[in-house]
Amino acid sequence: MMKNKWEDYYTRKARDEKWLARSVYKLQEIDQKFKLIRKGSRILDLGCAPGSWSQYGIKKVGKQGEVIGIDCAKPKISNLPNFRFISADILDINIKWLKNETGALDLVLSDLAPATTGIKDTDINRSMILTALASEIALGILKNKGCFVCKIFEGNEIKSFKTDMKKYFRQIRLLKPQATRKRSREIYLIGINFTGECQS
Ligand SMILES: C[S@@+](CC[C@H](N)C(=O)[O-])C[C@H]1O[C@@H](n2cnc3c(N)ncnc32)[C@H](O)[C@@H]1O
Repeated sequence: MMKNKWEDYYTRKARDEKWLARSVYKLQEIDQKFKLIRKGSRILDLGCAPGSWSQYGIKKVGKQGEVIGIDCAKPKISNLPNFRFISADILDINIKWLKNETGALDLVLSDLAPATTGIKDTDINRSMILTALASEIALGILKNKGCFVCKIFEGNEIKSFKTDMKKYFRQIRLLKPQATRKRSREIYLIGINFTGECQS
């Protein structure tokens, strides 16, 4: 049998534990460290396909909570009462419309990643556009004291993004989870306790 060149410890572990993607271990590490997801939490998962972050969220929030996933690709999650999928390109999302659909939320996750070209500057720029949109959505939709987790690619813009986010959250942390592939430039920004008012 041909071996997938990307297969590693986390890929096998995810398959054994029936998660839809190995990236679940990145969210698990972030959540275990910062205690972001609670029973009853209402979560928005931006770039949710194939669905491992939503799967993890669905389990943790329980029946009283809800996970709303957005992606232009369809996630592999079957119909569950505490999961809702919105099929959309994030570049076209109207935040007012979205807020109307979801109400104020406890947590916004963004694992959005553009299709990479291999050209470093292009990939970083495309990722920054998604990061900026994800943060705009989070700031418009989070409850007071809500939290934000956002994938970002290491580059010059990280510093200014972090400074900007500091205006809205009591604490900002950066974390490169252990499940991140060695050569990847991705890192996660975690905004804890949103201080702004959600205009819902
Ligand atoms: C790394 S994957 C997310 C993996 C997911 N967290 C999981 O655990 O299964 C990134 C996702 O971002 C989505 N994406 C990228 N650009 C997007 C856009 N403009 N609008 C909506 N989704 C987008 C891709 O379709 C892809 O499913």
